[in-house]
Amino acid sequence: MQIILGITGGVAAYKSAELARLLVNQGHRVRCILTEAGARFITPLTLSSLTGEPCYGANPDQGEWRANPSIEHIELARWAELVAVVPATANILGKAANGLASDLLSTVLLATRAPVLWAPAMNTGMWEHPAVQANLARLRSFGHAVVEPGAGILACGEEGAGKLAEIAVIAEAIQIHAAPKLRSLAGRRVVITSGPTREDLDPVRLLTNRSTGSMGVELARAFRDAGASVQLVLGGDLPAPWGIETIRVRSAEQMLAACQACWADADGLVAAAAVADQRPEQTAAEKAKKGEGSETLVLVRTPDILATLAAARRPDQWVIGFAAESEHHLEHAAAKLKKKGLDAVLVNDVQAGRAFGPQANTLTPITPQGAHHPLGPLPKDQLARAVVQWWDQRLEAMDSGR
Ligand code: CTP
Repeated sequence: MQIILGITGGVAAYKSAELARLLVNQGHRVRCILTEAGARFITPLTLSSLTGEPCYGANPDQGEWRANPSIEHIELARWAELVAVVPATANILGKAANGLASDLLSTVLLATRAPVLWAPAMNTGMWEHPAVQANLARLRSFGHAVVEPGAGILACGEEGAGKLAEIAVIAEAIQIHAAPKLRSLAGRRVVITSGPTREDLDPVRLLTNRSTGSMGVELARAFRDAGASVQLVLGGDLPAPWGIETIRVRSAEQMLAACQACWADADGLVAAAAVADQRPEQTAAEKAKKGEGSETLVLVRTPDILATLAAARRPDQWVIGFAAESEHHLEHAAAKLKKKGLDAVLVNDVQAGRAFGPQANTLTPITPQGAHHPLGPLPKDQLARAVVQWWDQRLEAMDSGR
């Protein structure tokens, strides 16, 4: 993708060099535009060296504009497939929200037809000012995306909101625009369950499992990048991915309630969560005291979220489940598919801890037509993209067969 990276005058401008480098490493072409104030924080030489492209904007040594034989702002506006402004000051937000164009970056922002993404950074008082918030609301109404700043200790010494978002999060928000949109999934609403559930015994003890939730989170990203609108119902501690409505839950019952609230409006469900099958019959309000000798814990079944939603589905809704098996994978998964009435089951081999944690993994899709070619072994982010592509092709085939 061809990206214009606009850099305006804030201390966080030095972080844009790292972003430029990351984007180039991901295979993008990046041209930087420095505002005059931006050029006081970072040099054009740094940016052009990192990107291998000219750095545009004011010449900081002479305080002048570059020679402009070819209507530079229009050429750049046309060249861009995405314009990202990182960091964005209150000044550039105000200009762009009101259609002001007084330098190269603001003229490119006005002239371009490419998507625009803002990553603001400023003092907390400035960030919270109604004028800045109104400008952001206006930019959002143009269809622009905003990667909100985080909270922390700012360069001015104050503590609060206004710190530039993590570079990895900004890169992720940019990456969404680069991913191809898939026909059967773009604009569709997909509910994804992920992570372990936690069933409390008392205020300090709980029953849970070894799932991290990373596969479900990667699937949420891959469906989002393919153009779907994702609702992620997430157990465990992983951070919510950018641009995904994430509903945090603890127990199986909370997960079911969150899924049921989204299900009527959804086109599909991917149940990637490792749901605890049992919970303690009693949850003690105070920390339980140990007794002498052996003790008995009475467990009761939790609701099966996947089976409950599959049983309540409309004919136009699709449902994918997971199976974690340590033996007779395909037979067990095929039985699960039938019993729960699913469109597909993705089978994990969990023998010897495989499928948990960061290592490469393989998933074998099972559908009513039988077992399909295994996907992987791949790292989880690539495996998630492979699953989404496989499912998109199946949906297309199912649509054309109707
Ligand atoms: N699932 C669910 N709610 C539960 C249990 C499981 O939604 N209470 C979903 C999981 O997210 C996964 C699939 O069902 O998609 C797994 O099915 P399950 O029969 O629970 O498989 P295993 O956990 O492997 O259980 P078993 O011990 O029966 O093999």
